[in-house]
Amino acid sequence: MIKAAVMGYGTIGSGVVEVLEINRESIAKRAGDEIEVKYVLDLRDFPGDPIQEKVVHDVNIIVNDPEVSVVVETMGGVEPAYTFVKAMLNAGKHVTTSNKALVADKGAELIALAKEKNVNFLFEASVGGGIPIIRSLNSCLTADEIEEITGILNGTTNYMMTKMADEGMEFDAVLKDAQEKGYAEKDPTADVEGYDACRKIAILTSLVCGQQIDFKDIHTEGITKISSTDMKYAKQMGRAVKLLASSRKSKDGYVAMVAPFFVSPEHPLYHVNDVFNAVFVRGNVLGDAMFYGSGAGKLPTASAVVADMVDIVKHKDRNIWVAWSSKKMELADFKKSDNRFFVRTAEDRQKIEDVFGSVEYTDAGIEGEIGFVTASMTEEAFAEKADGLSLRSVIRMA
Ligand code: HSE
Repeated sequence: MIKAAVMGYGTIGSGVVEVLEINRESIAKRAGDEIEVKYVLDLRDFPGDPIQEKVVHDVNIIVNDPEVSVVVETMGGVEPAYTFVKAMLNAGKHVTTSNKALVADKGAELIALAKEKNVNFLFEASVGGGIPIIRSLNSCLTADEIEEITGILNGTTNYMMTKMADEGMEFDAVLKDAQEKGYAEKDPTADVEGYDACRKIAILTSLVCGQQIDFKDIHTEGITKISSTDMKYAKQMGRAVKLLASSRKSKDGYVAMVAPFFVSPEHPLYHVNDVFNAVFVRGNVLGDAMFYGSGAGKLPTASAVVADMVDIVKHKDRNIWVAWSSKKMELADFKKSDNRFFVRTAEDRQKIEDVFGSVEYTDAGIEGEIGFVTASMTEEAFAEKADGLSLRSVIRMA
């Protein structure tokens, strides 16, 4: 019998306990041993909940209990999760986490510590919820040089973009709806400003290049400026607006960014709607692959955490090698990357063409403005040209 502890009994932590219960027998069969939760660490008590007698408020009870070999971290945020996870690894316990903030910031260090202690630090649930993308990159796509990894990595914003497109609603109304449905947090900043997707693409890029990417180096734009008028243009062009988080290999290294894009129907990510997530991967020998599924939510995310627990039990005496060193990887300069840009402006065609040369116009029937798409140019060239025009909206094309 494997004894486990769960740190943080919120949505995901309680989901982990539930999944271990729902699939007790099949999980034991796959792991080769039964897994029992001995402790739940939380500041709160849960009277009436079957786990109430397992609740502890002092992390040291878990650290000092040699019987506990597997620890789940589902607290969220960097601290105190980082301190607690370090203590568990130092005590020779395996850890799995769903915490993208922790993994993006401290992943390399915790992976190295786990290796030193001959235990495991796994984090499948930190990106894409229930979608097995971390294990795929770490174990399956190892024959390839990854040329591109682009994802819809935030369920809340994808739900919002889908709803705005389908129902013509404005941003604020859709956000309220997303909050009522429990997708968006009361403070939705991390989702709508792209910070959540930024941390997730930082994790994926670190795994792809085997070095530490600093998420602060990633150019990040959210969806707060997207309006129902932009959606009308998207519809007119047969495109969908998606918040994409992407890393592409260029001659100068990986270029990473998070921003809303007008995605064409030929792109596999065009079809990813509602709260679903997907990750598109292009390998130099594989070609294209896409991973699609439930990217957030209690049970899908818990499914990934429990899968890590099973992997840990299968490798309880051996560290699973994760190629992610703490050596910092400098990203290529985002300003030198090429894109085509959709623009809305009240300026006339003469002025537009004086500045941008030949463009493709698009008419969504909006009075008093013109929409157009530029030729491909670098970010810095666009910024320089755009300086000479008054723009209402700019969205990149994918
Ligand atoms: N807020 C995140 C999302 C949760 O909406 O995708 C999963 O990381």
